[in-house]
Amino acid sequence: MNRRFQTILVTGGAGFIGSNFIHFLLEKADFQGRIVNLDTLTYAGNLESLAELAVKFKGTRYFFEKADICDRAAVERIFASFAPDAVIHLAAESHVDRSILGPEAFIKTNVMGTFTLLDVARNAWKGRHDVLFHHISTDEVFGSLGDSGYFTESTPYDPRSPYSASKASSDHLALAYYHTYGLPITLSNCSNNYGPFQFPEKLIPLMIMNMIEGKSLPVYGDGKNIRDWIYVEDHNAAVWEIMKRGEAGRSYNIGGENEWENIRLLDRLVEIVAEESGKPLSQLRSQITYVKDRPGHDRRYAIDCSRIKNELGWKQSVDFDDGLRKTVRWYLSNPLWTEHVRSGEYLNWMDRNYAVR
Ligand code: NAD
Ligand code: DAU
Repeated sequence: MNRRFQTILVTGGAGFIGSNFIHFLLEKADFQGRIVNLDTLTYAGNLESLAELAVKFKGTRYFFEKADICDRAAVERIFASFAPDAVIHLAAESHVDRSILGPEAFIKTNVMGTFTLLDVARNAWKGRHDVLFHHISTDEVFGSLGDSGYFTESTPYDPRSPYSASKASSDHLALAYYHTYGLPITLSNCSNNYGPFQFPEKLIPLMIMNMIEGKSLPVYGDGKNIRDWIYVEDHNAAVWEIMKRGEAGRSYNIGGENEWENIRLLDRLVEIVAEESGKPLSQLRSQITYVKDRPGHDRRYAIDCSRIKNELGWKQSVDFDDGLRKTVRWYLSNPLWTEHVRSGEYLNWMDRNYAVR
């Protein structure tokens, strides 16, 4: 099986992974059709991430629709106007710290928004089998690991933050729509992404920006929590393989097989930023500050991604050191992108909640 799509509706296409996915589809992948980017442009969405593509492909292969996925009438109108034969659903509230401070937006967008999209797709597609709804999810739905073991696709769900609980709920809804209504669904659960266009609230871009700006580098708790890091384009290439050849009703784990303690990662990032920016290593190291831990901070995530490797032949292609260096160079050469994306609500939010920084 090799599905071919004419029109892909990308939700959350102005965000980090979504904008990279649109770049990947229009610039690198074996895709000749058109893309409709549906995004409501929260603090995390920035159309500048797609500026060149929007000029090159506007009205031919790229369309933007500003809409909220919770707004059923708007989603129905977009389905009726563009008749997509695939949806890749990335739109979400995505930051764990924000979900702890204000869970409601997470329930609205991640649960109700996903429900709305699924339901509109079911009505619009009316039992068709030549269509696909790919739901993007996270390894955080599986909970927290101890020193050993890996998340597989059959690991029981055990979400611990409002963010991961809302994503777990949306995963269950997506699979329920497959089992109950036969909506062709695929699902992927991925580990921590990094790369260009990531909002500087997440660990890697936040630390890069704080290094450049001479601010403290806040390490939560003892700094020994472990995450599995994957370059965003490797994630997107995996998703594209699933969309083309994945089995409906099946979920696929995606990961970097690249576990790092936060403090070890930061030590390496400090070295790379020092090399790339010319800032003294000792000065950057002195900015590292241990701060109060995140409540309910999951200790370790680690992914077993043998299913997608064995069944679809995907594998990671970006070495971590190379990916980190590319990412650092991107943030150093795109100060305007960061200035613009941080210019709104974000700075107020940081001031209110993390005055220490
Ligand atoms: P992001 O926060 O950078 O982008 C989210 C995008 O969704 C933004 O453009 C925002 O404007 C849009 N959006 C938010 N609410 C919306 C709504 N109600 N209607 C329409 N658009 C809305 O997020 P990201 O890091 O790119 O994550 C994308 C998806 O991937 C999310 O579903 C997330 O759970 C999942 N995921 C992320 C990671 C990661 O490491 N970043 C890892 C695994 C899975
Ligand atoms: O695992 C996939 C998930 O990865 C995605 O589903 C989420 O959308 C994404 O935000 C990410 O979640 P994390 O909570 O793991 O990412 P974050 O970048 O917020 O934090 C990574 C680790 O770094 C985590 O252990 C907390 C720690 N941390 C984070 C920040 C922002 C710090 O020590 N200091 C910080 O300032």
